[in-house]
Amino acid sequence: MPAAKRPSASWALALPPGRRARARLCLRLATPLAFLLLLAAFLRTQPPPAAPPPAKPFAGPGKVAFLFLARAGLPLDFLWDAFLRNGDERRFSVYVHSAPGFVLDRATTGSRYFHGRQLARPVKVAWGEPTMVEAEKMLFAAALEDPANQRFVLLSDSCVPLYNFTYTYTYLMSSPKSIVDSFVDKTEKRYNPNMSPVIPKDKWRKGSQWIMLIRKHAELVVDDKHVLKVFRKHCKMIVTKALLEQKPNARRLGFVFRRKQILKGVAEKEHDCIPDEHYVQTIFSTKGLEAEIEKRTLTYTSWNQSTLDPKDKMTWHPTTFEYDTSSPEHINAIKSIDHVNYEVEHRTEWCQCNGTSVPCFLFARKFSYGGAMHILEDGSLGLQKSAQLLVNF
Ligand SMILES: *[C@@H]1O[C@H](CO)[C@@H](O)[C@H](O)[C@H]1NC(C)=O
Ligand SMILES: *[C@@H]1O[C@H](CO)[C@@H](O)[C@H](O)[C@H]1NC(C)=O
Ligand SMILES: *[C@@H]1O[C@H](CO)[C@@H](O)[C@H](O)[C@H]1NC(C)=O
Repeated sequence: MPAAKRPSASWALALPPGRRARARLCLRLATPLAFLLLLAAFLRTQPPPAAPPPAKPFAGPGKVAFLFLARAGLPLDFLWDAFLRNGDERRFSVYVHSAPGFVLDRATTGSRYFHGRQLARPVKVAWGEPTMVEAEKMLFAAALEDPANQRFVLLSDSCVPLYNFTYTYTYLMSSPKSIVDSFVDKTEKRYNPNMSPVIPKDKWRKGSQWIMLIRKHAELVVDDKHVLKVFRKHCKMIVTKALLEQKPNARRLGFVFRRKQILKGVAEKEHDCIPDEHYVQTIFSTKGLEAEIEKRTLTYTSWNQSTLDPKDKMTWHPTTFEYDTSSPEHINAIKSIDHVNYEVEHRTEWCQCNGTSVPCFLFARKFSYGGAMHILEDGSLGLQKSAQLLVNF
């Protein structure tokens, strides 16, 4: 997806033919009660929010909740398995939002950390529509049910960790702020004036979907109804031909497009809106809480604009890291980035965590199976090079 800034990186290497990822992919009730239940079910437009969290702070080692937004399975589960195996099981939890009906079990993943971790009632995610945001909220809500979860990291099924578990855990837990990429992009036209007054124009924000929230903010996002309502009504993706060409695999990967919107043309283009790049960011700005976030993302993405019109940001798309572009040199180049330029805001963000300089990125996307395998092989996660690691995969 497009963004108005990107850390510079030139992976202008010849890519080998992409390595193919593995294919694997009653009780009777009295009439009045039944009526009430039916009414309640009818009125419920989304799954119930998480139970209210306990008021007193959680005592004991906090957990990092890794929240995966997946299309179906997790093609890079073998790398996450190695990463988590090197960690402390009392200090993390895993949740996966996948396609309805998809179950993570021995048949679909070799990693026990993922078994049964899919949400019970996922939504069918339509790319670029508010259902993506609803899926994110469901992940946060599910993770809030465990009072030990203190940090909530949203990840895609093509994300990889760049550091070992200990480093990642310490980094995340030491941040008293959420880490949410957020900026004002005056060149984009996704704001719809009808969103006012809930979302005034000067509160409209944009940023990467891949965020980390502290517990208090995860609660805030899960509890939000006002901003979501406005997004549902006024922030819809109009899928243009250019975007369809950009995402040729989208349909095959299970995304659902609105055909009638594809057919509507340029007239509505001003109201193109990609909710997942605006929703959380805009909640923070409307609530005046931007001082409580680090305005950057933890997940590196390499934007490919090589063969396209550099002015046409809508057609930029993430480069996929293949085996050759996931060498230690490439990974170390990402790990050494300590600032990000936000050209649209003339802002340079020096990456910090609790007032200390830190590398900007803990994770990166998008990685192919081969790319993730290269990371596992070269041991940059602090893991032993061992065939044992892959025994279940
Ligand atoms: C942040 O830094 C301060 C001062 O250096 C320290 O006292 C505090 O414990 C740190 N916070 C976290 C969450 O590590
Ligand atoms: C960038 O995109 C072009 C066209 O889609 C493709 O041919 C090229 O290999 C991509 N470059 C990288 C580094 O992925
Ligand atoms: C984890 O990674 C950090 C930073 O790269 C390194 O200093 C540390 O020694 C590693 N720890 C383990 C247990 O591998």
